[in-house]
Amino acid sequence: MTTDDLESIVGQPVRTAVYLDPEASVEARIEDLLSRMTLPEKVGQLLTLDAQHGDLEDIVSAKLAGSVLHVTPALMPEAMELAGRSRLGIPLLTGDDGIHGHSFWPGATIFPTQLGMACSWDPALLQQVARVAATEIASTGIHWTFSPVLCITRDLRWGRINETFGEDPFLIGELGAAMVRGYQGEGLSDPTAVLACAKHFAGYSETLGGRDASEADLSPRKLRSWFLPPFEQAARAGCRTFMLGYQSIDGVPITGHQWLLNDVLKGEWGFTGTLVTDWDNVGRMVYDQRTCADHVEAAAVAVNAGNDLIMATPAFFEGAQEAVARGLVEEKQVDDAVRRVLRLKFELGLFEDPRIPDPDRQAQVIGCRAHADLNLETARRSLVLLRNDGILPLEGRLTSDGTGRAGGEGTLRTIAVIGPNADSPQAMLGDWAGATGQVPWMPEGHPRESVETVLDGLRAVAPSDWTITHARGADIESLAFDPTQWSLGPDGQPQPPVFTPAPVDQAQLRAATAAAEAADYAVVVVGDTIALAGEVRSTATLELQGGQLALLEAVAATGTPMIVVLAQSKPSSLPDSALNAAALIEAFNPGMRGGRAIAELLLGLIEPSGRLPVSFARHVGQQPVFYNQVRGQHGDRYADLTQDPLFAFGEGLSYTTVTYSGLTVHEDDVPVDGTVHATVRLTNSGSRPALETVQAYISDLTTSVTWAEQELKAFTQAEVLPGETVAVDISIPAAQCSLVTADNRRVVEPGEFALRVGPSSRREQQLSERFRIRA
Ligand code: NOJ
Repeated sequence: MTTDDLESIVGQPVRTAVYLDPEASVEARIEDLLSRMTLPEKVGQLLTLDAQHGDLEDIVSAKLAGSVLHVTPALMPEAMELAGRSRLGIPLLTGDDGIHGHSFWPGATIFPTQLGMACSWDPALLQQVARVAATEIASTGIHWTFSPVLCITRDLRWGRINETFGEDPFLIGELGAAMVRGYQGEGLSDPTAVLACAKHFAGYSETLGGRDASEADLSPRKLRSWFLPPFEQAARAGCRTFMLGYQSIDGVPITGHQWLLNDVLKGEWGFTGTLVTDWDNVGRMVYDQRTCADHVEAAAVAVNAGNDLIMATPAFFEGAQEAVARGLVEEKQVDDAVRRVLRLKFELGLFEDPRIPDPDRQAQVIGCRAHADLNLETARRSLVLLRNDGILPLEGRLTSDGTGRAGGEGTLRTIAVIGPNADSPQAMLGDWAGATGQVPWMPEGHPRESVETVLDGLRAVAPSDWTITHARGADIESLAFDPTQWSLGPDGQPQPPVFTPAPVDQAQLRAATAAAEAADYAVVVVGDTIALAGEVRSTATLELQGGQLALLEAVAATGTPMIVVLAQSKPSSLPDSALNAAALIEAFNPGMRGGRAIAELLLGLIEPSGRLPVSFARHVGQQPVFYNQVRGQHGDRYADLTQDPLFAFGEGLSYTTVTYSGLTVHEDDVPVDGTVHATVRLTNSGSRPALETVQAYISDLTTSVTWAEQELKAFTQAEVLPGETVAVDISIPAAQCSLVTADNRRVVEPGEFALRVGPSSRREQQLSERFRIRA
């Protein structure tokens, strides 16, 4: 639209309009624009509407929505143009779920899931991942990604465990802040920057029975103790948007939670960014949680509690206007929210450049070689070796010839690659990637050739004279439904099909055992599917489903050495057949290049370095198993089962042996505003290099309230070559050695502490030294 066009519509000379003057300050531009807006225009700016069904005229021109999500790529230019043609020409803000890459852009780089990436324990790597994702996302006209997820893993039955960075607030905070920095880049004026969104604020993962969006049994103190710190860190890292969860807390739907939204986020933390609800949270207060009689009341609750953007509730448009008319909301409350939305648009520079999709740029960056390389490196770092009787790396004689294919002299070998996830692209990608049901335009998912499965990977990197055979062996779910046909729920969101476990298929089983018998090694890739992971897809059990248990038993019975690869969304409880296998590898949906990374690990082309960000339960009823539990219960076992987790937070093996010694705390008396400094020695007594993740936990020995026995407070990674001993320094600000008092204050209580350093959260693997913090 030209300035002349705009003038004829607005009826005043816009050349002088301050809001259109890029030289004016953002605040002056906001006030000028706000003064020109009608109430419907203001309310429209608060709408973030779902555009996947293409009804753009209704969304942008009738409801005046200022932001949209899930725009079909083909319609993005039209959506932006419609907004540009609106009375005041306010540009559209566009968002989508780029959760581990640009989820819904065919062929975009899809990284491991957040849980997979967290296994790297490497904030710098995740910052690069987010930078790459932002570059791809920004080239397609999207300004805002709904990532990272800062929910804490609690009940492993929850379907969204794959979206988390695991169970520890400190690790989550470090990784989350790194991703925020990566997405937002050098600043929002950078055309490759996208807005980050810390979600789901706060406490959504404290489910009841793992059920999605249930009432969360949380006190303000429990929130402040474990759930809020990662969000506070994201706010301090400059994260410009926050998204709510779906839960209610102690009777209050999160959408109306004044204490969290206003007092804590905007008050205590001084958050000046924008707060978006989750999907139809406002409507849910009417038809789900039933705390509001209608959309008018619900709109008033949402605005008065401090929400700025209302996601996927079209009825908010009329509801909010009526709420103002009835005096349930003061217009100045609406104005405040509009200011926060406009601030984002001005900071992004959208009035000068609406950042329309750029096909040339897309051709350069989407799925480009450099991004694929980073993805492979991230996949490698995401793998966790859980057990190894010495069989890995296979043959122990392979060296890289520089092309990625293993080489070297030796006996010809046959590897049978077995299992329902051995050649499953979606098992590599996980949730929020292509055909996962959230958007309708990618029913076939990402292009097959853009994903490397375990079978693809072994074919690509095993010595060319080795034989790779394949048998599926079992199904996970029966195909009683068409996974491309998702029905819509009351909120307009796709509802997953009902999962039905597949029966054991004897013919498949026979083919798999025959393949295993004829091979030197059986690599069995088991796990879950997209029907068992994600929103509204919590599981009642943690077991491997369908024919997988029978498959593992049958392959184990052949006597061929079995290596089990878990290609899954979250920890499962494992049968003895898997636990007694020659080796066990965790691969939490390792992304497009995951299969190649797994093959490289099996063949010893890379070193295993991942560490678990989450504990595994031996049985679903053993939960909760997270390591940082509060002291004080009687005993440490059930009558019929230990409480010891199957695998603990921080665990992971390498192909060598690293021992810890000589932990020294340099000052045994540290002031509250000081820093605890320590050093530990690592010795690699094996024959392969290691990337060791040194973990430092603090135990406050006597506390005024019950508190976690130990908490992670620092970690650092060190390369240790064979035969080498290296010294690793650790520093922890004393201010981090805090707890939350009975009256909900985070403080450091001076006294005796233990610093525990080791390769995992397991006490028996840690060295420990005492120190004091003085007032
Ligand atoms: C609902 C999910 O809970 C949230 O994580 C996501 O960002 C929105 N839908 C938008 O797709």
